[in-house]
Amino acid sequence: MSISSKDIIVEKVKTSKIDQIDFENLAFGSVFTDHMLICTYKNGAWETPKITPYQPITLDPSSKIFHYGQSIFEGMKAYKDKNNDVFLFRPLENHKRFNISAERMCIPQIPEDYFMEGLIALLNLEKDFIPTQEGSSLYIRPFMFASGNGFHASPADEYKFIIAFAPSGAYFSGKVKVLIEEKYSRSANGGVGYAKAGGNYAGQFYPTQLAVAKGYNQVIWTDDTNHEFIEEAGAMNIFVRINDTLLTGPTSDRILDGITRKSILEIAKDLGIKTEVRKITVKEVVDAAKDGSLKEMFGAGTAAVISPISGFGFRDTDYDLPELENSYGLLLKKTITDIQYNKSEDKYGWRVKVNA
Ligand code: PLP
Ligand code: COI
Repeated sequence: MSISSKDIIVEKVKTSKIDQIDFENLAFGSVFTDHMLICTYKNGAWETPKITPYQPITLDPSSKIFHYGQSIFEGMKAYKDKNNDVFLFRPLENHKRFNISAERMCIPQIPEDYFMEGLIALLNLEKDFIPTQEGSSLYIRPFMFASGNGFHASPADEYKFIIAFAPSGAYFSGKVKVLIEEKYSRSANGGVGYAKAGGNYAGQFYPTQLAVAKGYNQVIWTDDTNHEFIEEAGAMNIFVRINDTLLTGPTSDRILDGITRKSILEIAKDLGIKTEVRKITVKEVVDAAKDGSLKEMFGAGTAAVISPISGFGFRDTDYDLPELENSYGLLLKKTITDIQYNKSEDKYGWRVKVNA
């Protein structure tokens, strides 16, 4: 069955909570809009999506999400320009990746029209919640999980697809200092690292807490075999600039194929920045930090945008990365956000206007 936004059942709130939101002081992902989209997969098919007031959901204690962690999500943003027009950035890439994650976690595929029509219908209803303050946007969280019941360790027979919105400010409030991790691993060959599966994030919390206790904000994950190569950070792909070359690792079973990462690679090439996608050793980064050829490092992701890394720890030594005047990270951030907020021409066709 295919659907259009007209098919979506809409139950509106009686009173909006928009006046309770302090748009001048938005944290990341902690206040939500009036409505959410919810759709159930049952008896082998997706039911008609519904837009309802944003509210708690009731699940049986034996729901498989609680026991076996069948859960995936996406992260997207909606941006408003000075004329109050609303835009998404490469949303079909998120849909594609969502289904890649779903396949790996034995969760049913969500058709493109359910994802896109559902998202656009909800956005049209909630567009007043899209912040216009510099650096703010409406964070979009599509997610799917096993709502079917039973303690048998096997895929559930029922799932929920939900989209919720959070008007959000910056993901990191200050400088990002990272620790190169050599003991714990985020992912392994043949594992689920390339999927946006909830458990990938739960598994990072403990090592990240240990790093935070030592004064760092994030862990930089290395490969699980020998902890020899730089892979990615908690919620970001990693870029390293050595002299004038911008490096990032290749995606693999272990690394999320970030949409920001691949957009940056294209933009950088067009800006005349030399880029290399190849394995980056921890040793070359430490050596470059020692001899001064390591100019900058930054993380890239939807939530984090481009977040400069102010320094890193490796074994018991800290290496600082002073701010650069001609930073690639800042140039790339401006170029990509100008496209996202409709401040510049989008020759790539990445920006998608949402009809209001
Ligand atoms: N790596 C991880 C583990 C992430 O959670 C994210 C965030 O989505 C990214 C990288 C960046 O991906 P994207 O640029 O598609 O948001
Ligand atoms: C995103 O960048 O959208 C993410 O999904 C990161 C998230 C873990 C906050």
